[in-house]
Amino acid sequence: MEERTHKNYFDIAYKTGTDVWSLRDISERGRELLAGIAPGALVLELGSGRGRFAFMLAENKYRVIGIDFIEHIVDKNNREIETRGLTGKIRFITADVLDIPLTDESFNAVADIGTLEHLPRTDWPRYVSEAFRVLKTGGYYYLITLSRETPQFQKWNPKTSETGDYVVDGLHYHFFTLDEIRQTFGASFNLVSTRVEHHAPSGLYFLIVLLQKL
Ligand SMILES: C[S@@+](CC[C@H](N)C(=O)[O-])C[C@H]1O[C@@H](n2cnc3c(N)ncnc32)[C@H](O)[C@@H]1O
Repeated sequence: MEERTHKNYFDIAYKTGTDVWSLRDISERGRELLAGIAPGALVLELGSGRGRFAFMLAENKYRVIGIDFIEHIVDKNNREIETRGLTGKIRFITADVLDIPLTDESFNAVADIGTLEHLPRTDWPRYVSEAFRVLKTGGYYYLITLSRETPQFQKWNPKTSETGDYVVDGLHYHFFTLDEIRQTFGASFNLVSTRVEHHAPSGLYFLIVLLQKL
């Protein structure tokens, strides 16, 4: 398999329809977040992909911005806004989550479903500082990410792994422990809730955390 960069991987996946994560059931996603913020709140999704979570939020009366660094998927999402009857409630922007082109302290919540786990550890401090910067004080950060509780991922066993790091087809995967989340976000955020969810079709376990900006 040819070596592909992180960004090329996602570009090709969306162009070829091999973005398997877009097939996962999202009906239960966001439960903890939606309990914490009222309709009308402004929510940012980091790495919005095909926009499924972002559109679901907008359909539930939240105001939403989704950012993703794959321009053609951002454009496709923006073209769907009118046909979904969501004009003025949501928009998508092409941007890097490490350099968010949005104002400080402007969001009630920031959500990430499956993006942080693909960033190298060296990018985590920058990622946290950007998520922190755009959130209002008291705002929520909501993460659904790969859990180290996963017994099997391809030929590996994240549950017994020291690092939880893997590279497949040029894409980095990190399986998080709750301690890593505490260490990564701890100084800037308070842990509100956490749970681990088993996704039977893939055998993956997901760590779902809700944090609040101090
Ligand atoms: C596994 S997908 C998840 C997409 C979506 N949240 C979902 O649940 O269907 C990760 C997404 O993050 C985007 N992404 C990864 N790194 C990024 C970065 N540094 N800046 C912006 N987007 C990024 C990818 O293009 C991809 O759409």
